[in-house]
Amino acid sequence: MKKLVIVGTGSRAYGGFAERLVKNFSGRVEIVGLCDPNKKRCEYFRDSLGLNAAIYKDFDLMLDELSPDAVLVTTPDGYHHEYIIRALDKGCDVYSEKPMTTTVEKCRAIREAEIRAGKKVRVTFNCRFMPYFAKLKELLAEEIIGKPLSVNYEYMLNPNHGGDYFKRWHRFMEMSGGMMVHKATHHFDIINWLLDDEPTSVCAEGARLYFGNESHPHGERCMTCPHKTACESYGSVCENDHLKKMYFDAEKEDGYQRDHCAFRADTDIYDSMSVSVSYKKGTLLTYSLNLFNTDEGFNMHIIGEKGRLEFSNLFEGEKHKITVRHRDGSVNEIYFPKGTGSHSGGDDRMMEMLFGNVSEDDVLGQCADSFDGIKSAMIGIGANKSIKDGIRVELTPILDSLR
Ligand SMILES: NC(=O)c1ccc[n+]([C@@H]2O[C@H](COP(=O)([O-])OP(=O)(O)OC[C@H]3O[C@@H](n4cnc5c(N)ncnc54)[C@H](O)[C@@H]3O)[C@@H](O)[C@H]2O)c1
Repeated sequence: MKKLVIVGTGSRAYGGFAERLVKNFSGRVEIVGLCDPNKKRCEYFRDSLGLNAAIYKDFDLMLDELSPDAVLVTTPDGYHHEYIIRALDKGCDVYSEKPMTTTVEKCRAIREAEIRAGKKVRVTFNCRFMPYFAKLKELLAEEIIGKPLSVNYEYMLNPNHGGDYFKRWHRFMEMSGGMMVHKATHHFDIINWLLDDEPTSVCAEGARLYFGNESHPHGERCMTCPHKTACESYGSVCENDHLKKMYFDAEKEDGYQRDHCAFRADTDIYDSMSVSVSYKKGTLLTYSLNLFNTDEGFNMHIIGEKGRLEFSNLFEGEKHKITVRHRDGSVNEIYFPKGTGSHSGGDDRMMEMLFGNVSEDDVLGQCADSFDGIKSAMIGIGANKSIKDGIRVELTPILDSLR
């Protein structure tokens, strides 16, 4: 039985991991400790899941007293490195939520700790386990379009989902790296993985065009807002009992408001971004991320020597569809079942791979390590620098120094 402790007992740790570990992996993994500065949230986490876990504010004390085999890091992004490094130094295996971390210096400190400990961090990139990305990976491996030359990836969030990032710690660059790191790390990782390649340089533009603007009708927080019925980003921390108990009832401990108004000006991140990335094997990526769109989803085109792959998760059929356009004008439409459950079934499949009794090899290479975490985070970190300094950022020297 693997002894696991969790640091950062918020909604991702709860719904993404702990609920599944209790339901599906209770004979293989036991959650023996929980650590969070907010004791009330930690207690709700433990009690509502029926865990027999000790609660700590002091992470090192938890590791010393419980001697866990592994640590799951699900704190705000800007703190991941602190716990990853301390866990490695105590000889634990580490699972870290994405983004692995948010700055070059933190990437370097994690790599140094891995080398010291002789261990590798696993980064929980659940998107790699979504059925459509797995299918695209298979088709590219079969060379259905030959060598990929160019990728267009357009990602959109609606104002409710996009606004959520302006309500919490994500709205500060220092805590999340902005959406270029926090959100786009998923998307950059997918492209790195699909292409089986690494980025060499990045150029970007970014702006805040919608959120964080107090000329928009706004309030203090959703729960008490006079504009709640008209607001596309409304979402009260008390809209269900679980959220209320996890966040509202724990507010007095640390003042963390889960539903701070998304239109208040106390933010420094962008809500609209465009990025160009060059890859080692010559492929070019054109990527955009918009957080206040009318629709939620993405369009992806991969153009290769022999043709083009098209996929959109906005397609409303009963099954997913990938279109292959060959250079001779012929077209194949490939249909396959949609995944069910959170993140299109990606969370369940990832958990099976990380904690289940998996006998087959990881043939698609879906399990990500720290260098995968570094490659995707570095595109976002470089993109932020590109926007700030108005320059193209070379990534190869940095990646070479972190290998
Ligand atoms: N892969 C995915 O699909 C996915 C989805 C959501 C979130 N995430 C990631 O999961 C992580 C947690 O996100 P969340 O939405 O649960 O956030 P959250 O704010 O709900 O939870 C974070 C928890 O960390 C605690 N915390 C704050 N400061 C801390 C510190 N210094 N040390 C230890 N704990 C601290 C908070 O009290 C809270 O309980 C983030 O890294 C996020 O990027 C991943």
